[in-house]
Amino acid sequence: MPKHNFYAGPSILPEAAIAAAVEGLKDFAGTGLPVVSISHRSAEWVEVMEAAQALVRRLLQVPDDYDVLFLQGGARQQFAQIPYNFLPSDGTAAYLDTGTWASKAIAEARLFGDVHVVASGKEAKYRAIPKDYVIPTDAAYFHCTSNNTIYGTQMQAFPDSPVPMVCDMSSDIFSRPLNVEKFAVIYAGAQKNMGPAGTTLVIIRRDMPPVKGRAIPEIWDYRKHAAKGSMLNTPPVFAIYLSYLTLQWLEAQGGVAEIQRRNAEKAALLYEAIDSNPLFEGTAAPEDRSVMNITFVLKRPELEAEFLKMAAEADIVGIKGHRSVGGFRASCYNALPKESVEALVAVMDAFAEKYA
Ligand SMILES: Cc1ncc(COP(=O)(O)O)c(C=O)c1O
Repeated sequence: MPKHNFYAGPSILPEAAIAAAVEGLKDFAGTGLPVVSISHRSAEWVEVMEAAQALVRRLLQVPDDYDVLFLQGGARQQFAQIPYNFLPSDGTAAYLDTGTWASKAIAEARLFGDVHVVASGKEAKYRAIPKDYVIPTDAAYFHCTSNNTIYGTQMQAFPDSPVPMVCDMSSDIFSRPLNVEKFAVIYAGAQKNMGPAGTTLVIIRRDMPPVKGRAIPEIWDYRKHAAKGSMLNTPPVFAIYLSYLTLQWLEAQGGVAEIQRRNAEKAALLYEAIDSNPLFEGTAAPEDRSVMNITFVLKRPELEAEFLKMAAEADIVGIKGHRSVGGFRASCYNALPKESVEALVAVMDAFAEKYA
């Protein structure tokens, strides 16, 4: 019986994708060799790389004037790579502070230039996404975080930014259709909805002007990666391969529109259970609730260990909240079946019956 896997990342991936990846570790594309033991310059690998990029384009309807890159270093490398490439030392970048990851991105940008925080949810303990803010027209770019993995909030809409918009979509990429044209750069660590840790998807508009007069080492330069088809250096082949298999699974399910429908159904089920249960309460402002990371607490915190024990007995794993905020977090990524949410709801009901 598989576990009900609610980990926030690395997290659940489709069983079919894992099985195909295991196969690829034995005999990749009929070569008789493991996918990790064949040159990334081989025709078989190049075919996978190109097919993975084409699949990202199909799933998100990425326009032709954008590059699709599979980089390394995680989303946090992007926190630095974005300002390295686009924030002049005498310029200002605008950032929306919606949580831990957004504030880490801000700290990195400050190493390169000035940062104007257009609004921050910090005072309100990041329970809500600030909405009334003005993006300065002279900013080099505007950076936001679409989904706040730790606090369980999600941007339901994106502003019409007067300057290039950059978005960290690490924890909700491929969960819903996107209007890519609104963004100059989208980036996401793979290890939630896309694949295993080890690669970072970057979708970048080709005309983004790099900072004038700054020498950027090749490995940090988006244009150098793009010019080499995302193979400037040896790519993280296994992470890309399993991401490709995961995205193939997604396409077979009906793509992002269908997965959005399923994700909404799962989230509604769990939020309804949280709201109607006398012992639990949600932590995010209702209008900003995330469909991916559902955060909640016990009204009687002394019962936390008991609830975790009951959940574990029902094969539920990964619901402990992030160490910085406590409580519970159920991450309901694309590959999580509805049955797992039903299993969690059943435990919450049984818990309330016992303790309410
Ligand atoms: C929204 C968001 N951004 C950035 C990160 C950091 O990602 P990485 O560990 O790939 O650097 C995370 C990790 O969970 C995240 O959820």
